[in-house]
Amino acid sequence: MNKLTDQQIEKFVADFPSAGRDVSMAGKTFLKIGGPARIFLTAEKNEDLVRAVKVAKQNEIPWYIMGGGSNLLVSDDGFEGVVIQMADRSVSIDGTKAIAFAGCFTGLLARDLAKRGLVGFEWGVGVPGTIGGAVYGNAGCFGGEMKDAIVSVETYDLTEDAIVTYKKDECGFSYRESRFKREPHIILKTELELNMGDASASLKKIDEIMAKRKDSQPQGAFSAGCLFKNFTYEDEGALEILRRKIENVPPEMLKNKKLGAGWLIDMLGLKGTQIGKAQISPVHGNFLLNLGGARAQDVLGLSSLVKMRVRDELGIMLEDEVQLLGF
Ligand code: EPU
Repeated sequence: MNKLTDQQIEKFVADFPSAGRDVSMAGKTFLKIGGPARIFLTAEKNEDLVRAVKVAKQNEIPWYIMGGGSNLLVSDDGFEGVVIQMADRSVSIDGTKAIAFAGCFTGLLARDLAKRGLVGFEWGVGVPGTIGGAVYGNAGCFGGEMKDAIVSVETYDLTEDAIVTYKKDECGFSYRESRFKREPHIILKTELELNMGDASASLKKIDEIMAKRKDSQPQGAFSAGCLFKNFTYEDEGALEILRRKIENVPPEMLKNKKLGAGWLIDMLGLKGTQIGKAQISPVHGNFLLNLGGARAQDVLGLSSLVKMRVRDELGIMLEDEVQLLGF
């Protein structure tokens, strides 16, 4: 990465005096890992965010938009550019429709909707980070997926340099995928459609989801959630090597043509494996933990080790779910 010049930094900061310099990304991410962002800006309003990207582009400053930092691994050297954090957390609700700005927290939104008796988004309570990030990666858990509730997504299209709104079926959603991962867009807000229902039943469902999460996922540790996507396949042939080693593949996984990455890692006995202070959770094989003071290099080393073992021994290529910055 080329170092930013003082002139580039000063030009950006002249437009955005609240921007910080050399801000530790370890303090901004759930993993608590990462060197400094040369410039860091919290964008309180979506308009500031769009303007900040324009100013960065004019000054040839590399830029990166982050949501809540829940699914992000930043290099130990940091990022030689500007990191812009979405902080427009507005939500407006009208009948069964909700407009959620990209910076609002998915878990808080889920609780807010449930309290109002707007049902169908309870699963969102288990998703860390912001709605912008959840839309970008079509986040999901406990049977729900972001795309289920979406009517449309408003974006800033960086290719067209214009605000563009996409209807749900134009968003290219699939398992942990959207068109926004493939084409440069900034997600600004999303319109959701819920169902009118019973608030107390909805809140009960939220409690159940939280309890399930507590049982099956590590708690209280620094982690970026699931490290890899689950493995989806079309043709049973993809399981040929795996079948030689593992006889009892859970029927649920075969039915959905989706093998849990955590389960695969568990089957190889890799839970608890450690490099430096990075560890594969002893509780769930797809969670990587920072035990305190882990470096990004440790995480990458551990992630490569897991990928190689799963590829060599089970014939399956795992794909990263976590976003990488500064590598
Ligand atoms: N399993 C094991 N060993 C493990 C982990 C899981 O045998 O170490 C088994 C479980 O017993 C279960 C199956 O694998 O039978 C599936 O596990 P789980 O229910 O925990 O779900 P998952 O497929 O591993 C997905 C999402 C999670 C989400 C949970 C809960 C992905 C990559 N992961 O995990 O999302 O919280 O379902 O619904 O899609 C995330 O995206 O960051 C994330 C954590």
